[in-house]
Amino acid sequence: MLRFDIITIFPEFFRGVFDFGIVRRARAGGLVETAAHDLRTWTHDRHKVVDDRPFGGGDGMVLKPEPVFEAVESLAGAGDAQSLREAGKRVVLLSPQGRVLTQELAAEFAAVEHVVVICGRYEGVDERVAERLATDEVSIGDYVLSGGEPAAVVLVDAVTRLLPGALGSETSAVNESFSAGLLDFPNYTRPVEFRGARVPEVLLSGHHAEVARWRRRAALAKTRRNRPDLFAHLPLDDEERATSTGQEEEGNF
Ligand code: ADE
Repeated sequence: MLRFDIITIFPEFFRGVFDFGIVRRARAGGLVETAAHDLRTWTHDRHKVVDDRPFGGGDGMVLKPEPVFEAVESLAGAGDAQSLREAGKRVVLLSPQGRVLTQELAAEFAAVEHVVVICGRYEGVDERVAERLATDEVSIGDYVLSGGEPAAVVLVDAVTRLLPGALGSETSAVNESFSAGLLDFPNYTRPVEFRGARVPEVLLSGHHAEVARWRRRAALAKTRRNRPDLFAHLPLDDEERATSTGQEEEGNF
């Protein structure tokens, strides 16, 4: 069982968001548990203040360290990053300054028992949270969100579907995009012809080896076109590299 505790100033944001599809089923099946906690719970003043002005000046407000530390310590127990990791726990600060979330990092989180997620807000979070409290500072991509909440939903989804038993078939997750640094091959279903666009003939042939070869080539061509960064790192033989020229006609590889 993996437990996610999400620390946020918008706990209502998470109401219902984990009630769909694979995450819902994983929760119902006892594979994962999610809880959202209001950061203001760990303030001690009448106005439940969680932010303050930045030292050095500048616009915007910064999340104060005290409530964040208290929240994490009450949810995960006290301890430095190393002892938390040794206890099978991760404390993830979501921010655009983090390491970018990958399938590999998602798999690391799927292997622990407890992930505490801190949603950043405003112009930032006091850096001592990243330095002294979080085991990981994670970004979901090179763009800026208004806060970490949507990123927390992304993290929970990407991690939960990697838990053993979360997907219908145990093998589904390993065959997908990114597991081998390659995008997924294109899929088609009926009708064979839709608005003049036909399903590639080879997929209708019933010839399993031909279908497999087409899928491999189509995945390579698509990766080359949409993700040259991934393509450059694929361990391809010369023939595969040469045949993924990006000049392929639609459906013909
Ligand atoms: N908060 C704001 N932008 C973010 C991002 N790209 N990833 C994670 N948390 C964020």
